[in-house]
Amino acid sequence: MRNTIGVAVSGEDFYERPKVINKIKRSLEAGNHVYLSAPRRVGKTSIMNFLKDNQPKGWTYVYEITESVGEIEEFYKVLAKKIIESQVFKGVSKASDRLKKSLEILIQHINISVDLPFIKIATQNTDKISFSTEFEKILEELDLNGEYLVIMIDEFPKTLENILNRKSKEEALRFLQIFRDLVHNPKIAGKVQFLLTGSIGLPPIVKKLDGLHLITMLNVIEVPPLSTEEASNLLLQILAHYKVEISPEAVETVLKEIDWLIPFHVQLAAQEIIDVYETEGKVIDNALVMKAFTQILHHRNSIYFEIYLERLKKNLEIPDYKFANQLLDKIANQDTIDKADIHNLAVKNKVPETYKATLESLVYDGYIINHDDANRYRFSSSIFKLWWKKYVC
Ligand SMILES: Nc1ncnc2c1ncn2[C@@H]1O[C@H](COP(=O)(O)OP(=O)(O)OP(=O)(O)O)[C@@H](O)[C@H]1O
Ligand SMILES: [Mg+2]
Repeated sequence: MRNTIGVAVSGEDFYERPKVINKIKRSLEAGNHVYLSAPRRVGKTSIMNFLKDNQPKGWTYVYEITESVGEIEEFYKVLAKKIIESQVFKGVSKASDRLKKSLEILIQHINISVDLPFIKIATQNTDKISFSTEFEKILEELDLNGEYLVIMIDEFPKTLENILNRKSKEEALRFLQIFRDLVHNPKIAGKVQFLLTGSIGLPPIVKKLDGLHLITMLNVIEVPPLSTEEASNLLLQILAHYKVEISPEAVETVLKEIDWLIPFHVQLAAQEIIDVYETEGKVIDNALVMKAFTQILHHRNSIYFEIYLERLKKNLEIPDYKFANQLLDKIANQDTIDKADIHNLAVKNKVPETYKATLESLVYDGYIINHDDANRYRFSSSIFKLWWKKYVC
């Protein structure tokens, strides 16, 4: 298996994850709308790629990423384009007048080239239209012959955040409300389902808006890290591709050092191990693994981690940013921190009211975890911790 670092993978570069994929499919088959939850870089987009490329009979998966979208109508315009271009309309033999009309209106207003024999497109129409209304109508009228359509929306929380930052809290709530109404529309439910995800957590943003009641229709599925066995297989498959030899103990050491076994960190480790192997020209043992791990912290890999720091700067008010920074510095230096110390740090930084929300975002977005002990937080990844210690502290 090739070592494709940095971008979501598909096809042969995707290490199969049947457990989580079957869980998603089961939930969709039960009629749920799903929110795929996992911190940054755990492999959510790659899973969506897999679903898009491996559609079970009777199911169509359509993928759209709405990272740059920051307006409600733009969101539905983008989705409408994707659905109209997808397979689902190609197979339609007869269409209701209502469907034809909405499709005509949408096609006139979207830059799109499709050949749907059952409609005729008149010349450009510049009247103002509601993309959300027309989108809802085409889904209502769509006849799937008992089959199902899954609309996968990547970076949905980012769209919400964009609307909040560029417009207002009211507009962000309206976005969630319209989406919820769409999902609950009885003419759509049962044939069209949504699978959402994003690199930032949805619940913390929605909570900030006091809008948690608007996302209760989502079934949350966690994408876990790889098991030891999976991570070991992935590492060996990558190393085999580059003809790198490694001892069994060294494989164990790699996994122990990675600690948080997400595919991305296995790839980062593999990259440096391949490099060390080329330089040293001998079987990778424990000592060479440690050499590879020092290389992971080389400046060239900083691009993968700086994004975490940037996000804090961009999204937190100055006092909250200072609190988050000091908190992460402390954890990097002392490995863990307990809730009482976090509270003290919040008081010291004069953020006793907002620090809990900041803490929750840090967990959702994959900086820290409190899995082993609810009262103690530590870095979710030892690689990230070492990076923070070296470049930020
Ligand atoms: N199943 C997999 N097989 C091989 N590589 C994977 C797999 N899942 C993820 N990766 C690797 O991990 C990295 C992150 O993957 P991906 O972009 O899918 O994650 P993500 O959770 O969508 O990230 P983000 O939160 O930044 O959007 C990529 O470098 C990709 O190559
Ligand atoms: Mg992604």
